[in-house]
Amino acid sequence: MSDLVRMSITMDRDLSDRLDSLLEGGRNENRSEFIRDMIRCRLVEREWEQDQEVLGTITIVYDHHSSDVNRRLTHLQHEIHDNILATTHVHLTHELCAEVIIARGKASGIKKFADAVRQQKGILHTAFSPSTLGKVES
Ligand code: NI
Repeated sequence: MSDLVRMSITMDRDLSDRLDSLLEGGRNENRSEFIRDMIRCRLVEREWEQDQEVLGTITIVYDHHSSDVNRRLTHLQHEIHDNILATTHVHLTHELCAEVIIARGKASGIKKFADAVRQQKGILHTAFSPSTLGKVES
């Protein structure tokens, strides 16, 4: 178990009140947990900014009747096949498909791939989730 460090933080009342309003109904139970979470998020952001080896997830919803989007998505993935860890395809409705692609690699490459996916015609929605390969300590 890592050493715990106790610290005090100074901020003006207004900002402190706003912090408390963020905590209400949020996922964090207290200020310490909130700040720890924020730091972890910032560390992951920095990994992406520094173009380190990272993990990213792309969710895509599309109409499979629309042009040849299915074939184009497969083609894009084959172009970086070494980076694709997994792809899950779900047939949402008669028309709609959802695909979740999990990729690892240099941040710039994963971003480029996500942008290329986003720009495909026939896609109704994409969501990109930048994450980490776990170098961030808890
Ligand atoms: Ni489908």
